[in-house]
Amino acid sequence: MRAVVFSSPHELTLTEVDDPRPGPGEVVIKTAAVGICGTDTHVFDGEFEGTVYPLIPGHEATGTVVELGEDVDDLAVGDPVAINPSTTCGRCEFCLNGRANLCRAWNGLGVVASDGASAEYARVPRANVFKLRAETDLHQAALIEPLACAIRGYDLLPRRMGEHYLVYGAGTMGLLMAQLAPRAGAASVTVVDLNENRLQAAREVGVQNTLTSADEADADRDQWDVVIDCTGVIAAIEDALPRVKAGGTFQHFGVAPAEATAQYSPFRVYRDEINIVGTMAVLNSFGRAVEMFEAGAIQPAPMISHAFALDDYAQALEQFRAGTGRKLQIRPHASESVVLLPA
Ligand SMILES: NC(=O)c1ccc[n+]([C@@H]2O[C@H](COP(=O)([O-])OP(=O)(O)OC[C@H]3O[C@@H](n4cnc5c(N)ncnc54)[C@H](O)[C@@H]3O)[C@@H](O)[C@H]2O)c1
Ligand SMILES: [Zn+2]
Ligand SMILES: [Zn+2]
Repeated sequence: MRAVVFSSPHELTLTEVDDPRPGPGEVVIKTAAVGICGTDTHVFDGEFEGTVYPLIPGHEATGTVVELGEDVDDLAVGDPVAINPSTTCGRCEFCLNGRANLCRAWNGLGVVASDGASAEYARVPRANVFKLRAETDLHQAALIEPLACAIRGYDLLPRRMGEHYLVYGAGTMGLLMAQLAPRAGAASVTVVDLNENRLQAAREVGVQNTLTSADEADADRDQWDVVIDCTGVIAAIEDALPRVKAGGTFQHFGVAPAEATAQYSPFRVYRDEINIVGTMAVLNSFGRAVEMFEAGAIQPAPMISHAFALDDYAQALEQFRAGTGRKLQIRPHASESVVLLPA
């Protein structure tokens, strides 16, 4: 089959590799769509902890089952599926205590040591495969993986009715966090981004308040109950944290560079009982992401701007870095790249 292979950091080839065959407890899927996100650029740049090269990237995938491992009897060839890329050791303290996303041997398909789905076919453990309805759009459903991360984020937020939310960043993650806020009881949602095209995307998915700076918010509101950083940018984090209302919560959803530090006032955190919470990938949230996606909890169409053929993977990665467009996808069986929404 044809596959994109990261042969070593900064080296990418489109090459012919052996077709994957399912081992016991595994299935092979024919890939329909794979989302590109910042994790792929980190893996390509050699910045993701523990990546083993060569590696086929791609962790936000959907497809159709084409082959079942000998002991897999609860799926059928032809089933449409979404893939949870996280695999864990099942033996460490965190796996045994229900915190498997903190597993010390956490492995993401297409991220660490197992091949991902930027290829015509992918081999996946049965436990990571989630069956979709026949009518679900398999291209749009590649948003289920990031949605599962967003739901994990919400599992760690207070989710009280009538609160006001401020989200930094209107990329895929900010748009998902903003869309879920009303479902968590939000009275209002405000999204901040420096990029006007991204703010337009936020409006298209139904966000009421979109701003290029939180300073432009209505005069009656300069603090929010829940503030979520979905940029990973230190300047955004430092701007965001002081805007948490007393008793409120700040969430680090974005991934800052590992060596970066941010400034905040420990006095303020003490005096106003500010909660600061992280959130890491997916924890028991993938199945719920399927349920929410299929229930129409998010607007997928305005979120996906470009679909690239496998041959144009390098171009997709470049375009992601440039911040042009919205969610970019690879469709490994497409013969040409197409623009779905104007940039
Ligand atoms: N916690 C998790 O499990 C998890 C999962 C997936 C992604 N992430 C992280 O979430 C973050 C967002 O992911 P994404 O795919 O939406 O990325 P993205 O790059 O598409 O979006 C980030 C947005 O932030 C905006 N931005 C940059 N600096 C800003 C600033 N100073 N103020 C306001 N906006 C600013 C950009 O214009 C962009 O629209 C990334 O750091 C990513 O690594 C975390
Ligand atoms: Zn991702
Ligand atoms: Zn473990």
